[in-house]
Amino acid sequence: MLTADIVLSPDFVVAPVRRRLFGSFVEHMGRCVYTGIYEPDHPTADEDGFRGDVLALARELGITLVRYPGGNFVSGYRWEDGVGANRPVRRDLAWHSIETNEVGIDEFARWAAKAGAEIMYAVNLGTRGVAEALDVHEYLNHPRGTHLSDLRPTAAPHGVKLWCLGNELDGPWQTGHKTAYEYGRLAAETARALRQAEPGLELVACGSSNSGMPTFGAWESTVLELAYDQVDHISCHAYYEVLDGDVDSFLASAVDMDHFIDSVVATADAVGARLKSRKRVGVSFDEWNVWYQKRFVAEEPVRWRVAPRLIEDTYDVADAVVVGNLLISLLRHSDRVAAACQAQLVNVIAPIRTEPGGPAWRQTTFHPFALTSRLARGTVLRTEVTCPTRSTSRYGDVPVVDAVATHDAGETVVLAVNRHRSSPVELRVELGSLGEVAEAWALWDEDTSAVNSMSAPHRVVPRPGQAEVVDGVLRTVLPPVSWHAIRVHGE
Ligand code: AHR
Repeated sequence: MLTADIVLSPDFVVAPVRRRLFGSFVEHMGRCVYTGIYEPDHPTADEDGFRGDVLALARELGITLVRYPGGNFVSGYRWEDGVGANRPVRRDLAWHSIETNEVGIDEFARWAAKAGAEIMYAVNLGTRGVAEALDVHEYLNHPRGTHLSDLRPTAAPHGVKLWCLGNELDGPWQTGHKTAYEYGRLAAETARALRQAEPGLELVACGSSNSGMPTFGAWESTVLELAYDQVDHISCHAYYEVLDGDVDSFLASAVDMDHFIDSVVATADAVGARLKSRKRVGVSFDEWNVWYQKRFVAEEPVRWRVAPRLIEDTYDVADAVVVGNLLISLLRHSDRVAAACQAQLVNVIAPIRTEPGGPAWRQTTFHPFALTSRLARGTVLRTEVTCPTRSTSRYGDVPVVDAVATHDAGETVVLAVNRHRSSPVELRVELGSLGEVAEAWALWDEDTSAVNSMSAPHRVVPRPGQAEVVDGVLRTVLPPVSWHAIRVHGE
């Protein structure tokens, strides 16, 4: 059998576990909001019209942060359409849908409070600019006593701390698409104005829409040259799928995420060096997931409907293993990745699916997210895996096993994947102390294409894992294409 070895020490710390890594994303897109989180006629709906079954699943998923209201949607959005008594029905050019504006920021803030998640608010820098960003800030965060803050139904401000300065403005598909120079100037001026209103805000500039963009690297460099002192973080977005039937490369998607983060950090640091700044810009990985975009492009466009079924991808076991591995990559980069949002939360490429008037269920990808969010606490430990490699056509030779460990109050948590499609791997972890396994979970199946569905919502669930600690060494066997979470008590 193949083997993989890890030597851990609680003294070798990467950074604290950033709880904002367990973020999600609610965009006014498809059925994420309407018949996703919000469905007043649903049997489980609460007094605010929110689906109780979805709220319960969002809490179980362990989301700590939710980006809102988009996404491509935000680049044509007028936030004031979604507040007060008069809610105009509008076209949404991003998804060719009809937006009723029944849900706006006040409703969403109530939902986020019930879900126990912080809001990350994205302002429209596509069709709008500094003035409208200041307006929505005044509405959301200013204490009472001004025109816009007095329109807010709650006396207490919403207190949104983390703000995205637009969305994917490098992309020609974006309403109000800009060059790096145009966007960098606008981001800097919007940031400066927002800080005049509230100095303590955390601000995220748009990085590239994906690392394959022709302007990748140059975009980050120009934007940061213009906005370095004004922003705290730069965004990354990445979606992965099986391309041309190449499953081995797909299973190694986290290698690409590692490289993406390292490249953006290096670019940001190079700008910092040129500017002679000691400040370090963080990464906000505020859109990531598995998304079968090729299928979406091939689909007939749905035009001008309210809450159409858009990109409701069904995820299988292999997708869940990749999602678990992407979370390992994000945790490994906790020294620089300040926040991350899995896109999206409900129905739209989401871990939670619903039927209007019917049930809500957990997709396969729900499980590694929920377990990682529950178990990863304390500090992230430096985790080097010694194991065989496997050749992939997209990323060259990649380690068969990837892993990261966290440490909190004497307990160690090991998160690991086996990316090999046919070989099990024996994993041995030297913990640096004696202990015993408190819990072990494994997500795998003989049929890696198995999925959960409305009629079989529990077809794929985490199984109790077989792991033991003998003489300070944790041992377990990782089946092919599997994801694992193991918590070990200290001595
Ligand atoms: O999450 C779906 C879409 O993907 C978002 O609206 C956009 O920002 C990205 O391209």
